[in-house]
Amino acid sequence: MAVISLANQKGGVAKSTSAINVAAGLALEGYRTLLIDADPQANTTSVFIHPDMEVPLEQSLYNVLIKFAPLSSVVQSTTVDNLSIVPAHIRLSGLDLELAQALDNRSARLKNALEQVRDQYDYIIIDNPPSLGLITINSFTASDSLIIPVSTAYFALTGLVQLRETIDMVRNTQLNPDLKILGVLCTFVENTNVSRDVQQQLQQYFDKLVFKTAVPKNVSLEEAHSHHAPIFTYAPTSTGARCYRKLVQEIIQR
Ligand SMILES: Nc1ncnc2c1ncn2[C@@H]1O[C@H](COP(=O)(O)OP(=O)(O)OP(=O)(O)O)[C@@H](O)[C@H]1O
Ligand SMILES: [Mg+2]
Repeated sequence: MAVISLANQKGGVAKSTSAINVAAGLALEGYRTLLIDADPQANTTSVFIHPDMEVPLEQSLYNVLIKFAPLSSVVQSTTVDNLSIVPAHIRLSGLDLELAQALDNRSARLKNALEQVRDQYDYIIIDNPPSLGLITINSFTASDSLIIPVSTAYFALTGLVQLRETIDMVRNTQLNPDLKILGVLCTFVENTNVSRDVQQQLQQYFDKLVFKTAVPKNVSLEEAHSHHAPIFTYAPTSTGARCYRKLVQEIIQR
């Protein structure tokens, strides 16, 4: 089992879009895949479970992190073969406060929950909120590696220093000394000077860690969300589908 987190505390850089389509792509390749939505915004959840069908608190990640419910009790199947999901809940946004007095190792709750399903999945993909709070720390502690999507639509490199510091903190405090960066993913790539400059700077800063596959701005990727489908179902021949298919191959190889 490989556990991979999509993370960047910057908002709107395609964390959820990438989590959804990487997870769906791995599942379509035949890998038993679990997608965990750890973002209280629940954008990823709403692609697979229609927002009109409100997810009860007891059937969400909240119950696992707060009430120690077994992970298997909140797993739901999806319309994609081999792909299951753990839904998020808006109440997750209070996790830091709710666990402020917890006496256990509250950063390792997700990691401990994943132990119970270790043999059932080949890949576990975690979508994270745009923050570096306790949810993200739990994800980093539970993960083997991180994929960091970075939007090339504007200069967003300052936040990466802070993200690096958090990764180092997780490594250095023994929460997860082996946490790796699997790759940096350029998103919202366009034929503009800004987009080219940002890609060049990422290459200099992260070198070989930058995925060869970059994801261009592609309207089908945006539309797929509102059609409640991964890109491979909504627009299988689109540029977006082609890119995420290539990215999935790179991930499998790494
Ligand atoms: N390559 C793309 N081309 C066009 N639109 C995209 C692309 N990738 C993502 N989007 C759209 O951009 C918006 C932000 O993407 P997404 O929700 O994946 O980002 P995020 O990093 O998860 O955001 P947040 O930090 O709020 O969780 C969404 O409306 C999504 O549909
Ligand atoms: Mg998101």
